[in-house]
Amino acid sequence: MNVLRIHGGRRLTGEWRVHSAKNAVLPIMAASILTGEETRLEECPELVDVAYMADILRTLGCRIHSGDGALTIDPQNLNRHEMPDALAKKIRSSIFLLGSILARFRKATVTFPGGCEIGLRPIDLHLSGLRQLGVDVREEGGLIRCDGRHMRAGTVHFDYPSVGATENVMMAAALLKGRTVLSNVAREPEITDLQNFLNAMGACISGAGTHTVTVEGVDRLRGVSYCPMPDRIVAGTLLAAAAATGGDIRLTNVPCRDLYAVFTKMREMGCEIDEEESAVRLRAPQRLTAFQQLQTQPHPGFPTDMQAQMLALAAMAKGTSVVVENVFENRFAHAGDLNRMGANVLVNGRTAVVQGVDMLYGTHVTARDLRGGAALVIAGLAARGETLVERAELIDRGYERLEEMLGALGAEIRRDSV
Ligand code: UD1
Repeated sequence: MNVLRIHGGRRLTGEWRVHSAKNAVLPIMAASILTGEETRLEECPELVDVAYMADILRTLGCRIHSGDGALTIDPQNLNRHEMPDALAKKIRSSIFLLGSILARFRKATVTFPGGCEIGLRPIDLHLSGLRQLGVDVREEGGLIRCDGRHMRAGTVHFDYPSVGATENVMMAAALLKGRTVLSNVAREPEITDLQNFLNAMGACISGAGTHTVTVEGVDRLRGVSYCPMPDRIVAGTLLAAAAATGGDIRLTNVPCRDLYAVFTKMREMGCEIDEEESAVRLRAPQRLTAFQQLQTQPHPGFPTDMQAQMLALAAMAKGTSVVVENVFENRFAHAGDLNRMGANVLVNGRTAVVQGVDMLYGTHVTARDLRGGAALVIAGLAARGETLVERAELIDRGYERLEEMLGALGAEIRRDSV
């Protein structure tokens, strides 16, 4: 087990370059098997979820190589359409492979996927999208068997704008003859990045970032070299860490326009935020002010992946804040640990009421999921005394050595393996 040991009270200052987005890299890795040629991902972060995805691709027959910060995927010997059970259970994005495996083999078998323990996370929207493309989907004893012999382009409507389901169907449709129109799709920026990647491979897709995506099927795709977009959630997390410590930091490689909802809340808390083309500077006040209300929503609303970090800030702000989690039904696991640090958070269903306290105190806490773990680190940076965050490997799923980023910005934080 990995433990992050934090000595609180250090003000964060300085500059850091944000790494590429996990949520862009994972679907792009899945899409790389839509061609038989090699894909090279530049600036690919070393994340646990990326390593899991690479393992799954290897099991399917791909050759994967990493070095110089890049990851190459060679799917020339891709020969399996069945996802390995143990690996697929570890990472939810294994489900993204359904669309691309179907496109390549016209059949696919997967187990119900795993991932963060943040709610039920069903996959009905993925399966419904594929069924609307003519895929015959059968669920048998924990396995999902898809027969894509009669797949055809057409229209696909989503009851809810699921990020993963949108991406999956985009991949499944990329090589289908004719036009597929996807409506009520998710508008997250990583979907636009997937569209850009697929188009660089030779696909013909438009509309990502709006409610409707149109895919004109092409005969074949080619291997490319591509640099995935920067991680808006890593940027938001580092800004929150600076805000928690009264800090003054500048981040580069930041997709500012994808972070407006986050900037707005941080400004409400008293932070000064200066946006540049692809950089941002945050100057925090001595004491944060409560933001009153925050509701998570699909993009461009407030991202659920920043909710936990904002809850940590609300815990130390002056006044009362209310947080409503609309995207996932069980995403307040960090509240109990924050309370152990002296916070006053009351959770009732999807709502958390946070009465800000003057001071948090260091203690032993445990990461329960990726973003909740990051929130505990943020609380630890501001707390009096020492905080130990256990199960830090969960944080490594989405942050490339968080302790190095924060250490470079002046935090006193180190990793112990126990
Ligand atoms: C993606 C992100 C994740 C982020 C989430 C919401 C990746 C790898 N992960 O996850 O970091 O928190 O978007 O922004 O990109 N749902 C169903 N049925 C389905 C699919 C989803 O009911 O078939 C529900 C989920 O349980 C959840 C909501 O829809 O309550 C949103 O999920 P979705 O947008 O699909 O998130 P992911 O793609 O899993």
